[in-house]
Amino acid sequence: EKGGFDHFMLKEIYEQPEAIKNTMLGRIDLDKNQIDFSQEGLDQKFLEGIQRFYIVACGTSYHAGLVAKYLIERELGLPVEVDIASEFRYRNPILDEKTLFIGISQSGETADTLASLRLAKEKGAKTLSICNVVGSTIARETEVVLYTKAGPEISVASTKAFSTQVLTFVLFTFYLKQLLFGENEKKQKIEALIKLPSQLKIFIEKVHSKVKTLAQKWYQAQNALYLGRNILYPIALEGALKLKEISYIHAEGYAAGEMKHGPIALIEEKVPTVILAAKETGIVYEKTLSNAEEVRSRRGPIISLVTEGAKEFQKISDEYIEVPLTFYEFLPIFYVVPLQLLAYEIATLRGCDVDKPRNLAKSVTVE
Ligand code: M6R
Repeated sequence: EKGGFDHFMLKEIYEQPEAIKNTMLGRIDLDKNQIDFSQEGLDQKFLEGIQRFYIVACGTSYHAGLVAKYLIERELGLPVEVDIASEFRYRNPILDEKTLFIGISQSGETADTLASLRLAKEKGAKTLSICNVVGSTIARETEVVLYTKAGPEISVASTKAFSTQVLTFVLFTFYLKQLLFGENEKKQKIEALIKLPSQLKIFIEKVHSKVKTLAQKWYQAQNALYLGRNILYPIALEGALKLKEISYIHAEGYAAGEMKHGPIALIEEKVPTVILAAKETGIVYEKTLSNAEEVRSRRGPIISLVTEGAKEFQKISDEYIEVPLTFYEFLPIFYVVPLQLLAYEIATLRGCDVDKPRNLAKSVTVE
């Protein structure tokens, strides 16, 4: 059942190329260079009058929502709020019929996300969900559901659900650009999209051995910091969540620019900092580099994940992982993989029960 893998988590990490391929299936019209979600009820009529988005979720799904904020605001120029479901539902969130509420949930059964959806409905918002489990409660209770099609996710630590949620948002953004502004993506980008599964497959296999060696060196750490900016900031949060969830190492994800407002005090020889940066994609590479230099000058070990050929980082890093240079929109899908593998390898070395971490349930149906 684990298909030759030791754990479901590793199997599911390796299933990501296939999973994202399924997310795209039947939703891309190559001749027209377009994305199509109209079969799923997401059409001009449904979107009429929408002026803003409210994305609500928990845990890893919340991180996918944060990625979506960067994508949607950049590409569509419309405001996006993202919130944790257990906060949203006990506040007075401001939303109305001009708001599209988007609930994200792998299981479709998370109690707080479901309650948030019901609240959004009461307030008159239109509702959409991004779910993995077909026919789940959240899927049934939203007007439009976009399935991620990741296939069953057994491991408590969410992996392929995340990459498919992110990809669904990429497709969603491209599609709305067509519908609202009559703008198609460049052929080059759509072609890169089609090649994503095969490119990701090659990357996973290549990066895994590198991550294994790295894990050997760092698995005894007691604390770790994850830093990123822009669309890689939510990936830093996700990397930290994966590590703490399955290896029980205290890890914090932070926006790199926020480091000097507190977490810099944690830096010392025994606290590794994982830094995510990308060149040529418009996500403040130089600023992230100077954050790395600040860590270095305080003797903090640096594990960097950077796009190919970022020599400046290589010089100051203890460990260096290269990520393929791709379009802005596709960066999160590549960067999250080594972080999932790192958490997995470290947890295994520490003898943790990777698929069933202590105190956690796959689906949180109680509040
Ligand atoms: O099924 P959902 O996407 O609604 O679940 C949300 C969170 O409970 C979930 O992502 C959790 O944070 C994972 N264990 C993270 O790996």
